[in-house]
Amino acid sequence: MDYYIAPSLLSADFGRLAEEIRAIEEAGADLLHVDVMDGRFVPNITIGPFVVEAIRKCATIPLDVHLMIVEPERYIDAFSGAGADIITVHPEATPHLQRAVARVRELGRKAGVALNPGTSLSAVEWVLQDVDMVLIMSVNPGFGGQAFLPASLAKIELLRSQIRRAKLDVDIQVDGGIKADNVGEVAAAGANVIVSGSGVFGTPDYKETIGRMKRNIRSAVGLKA
Ligand code: DX5
Ligand code: ZN
Repeated sequence: MDYYIAPSLLSADFGRLAEEIRAIEEAGADLLHVDVMDGRFVPNITIGPFVVEAIRKCATIPLDVHLMIVEPERYIDAFSGAGADIITVHPEATPHLQRAVARVRELGRKAGVALNPGTSLSAVEWVLQDVDMVLIMSVNPGFGGQAFLPASLAKIELLRSQIRRAKLDVDIQVDGGIKADNVGEVAAAGANVIVSGSGVFGTPDYKETIGRMKRNIRSAVGLKA
């Protein structure tokens, strides 16, 4: 299995976004996680397609856009047009999940589905063959810097076994409260796309942090260093 580190820009310095993107890419980030919040689905408001387009111009790695907005289907085309490579929607935010993820794929983008901590895995059961990634939220979405919810580990394990049983090639992403010191646990549980905001941008040396995360993942899943 391939493992990816996806730093969340939410914890970057927005006054120096281009510099931060350059630094995180040089530090070994595999994807750039971009959190879109609407003040309705979650209490916070962040950025829209216009800023994603500006980020696209600075970034060379894929943009992993996490939509925490109600009725995400209304904005999928706009985010795809802005240059998102992966577009993830929440089933709690739309009555038409299958239509939403099918549209993402129709546009040639990778489709993800994100589950809040209180949402059961059954919410993705009937779209598992229509998605490239399932995001297990390990905090309630809305803010960076919250504490990791330990119940997420069993959820990741169960989802990984369901994906294996179905013989599907679906990534499991985990988002919220991940730092270098607990990244091994989530990888051992079966997650392979690791989002970290404050766990990377809140540290002085991004390269050292990402390097440590990758080493901790390798030793937790038993890969050679
Ligand atoms: C939370 C966002 C996360 C957030 C993670 O709603 O979806 O991507 O930036 O931040 P940390 O890693 O600091 O918990
Ligand atoms: Zn996120």
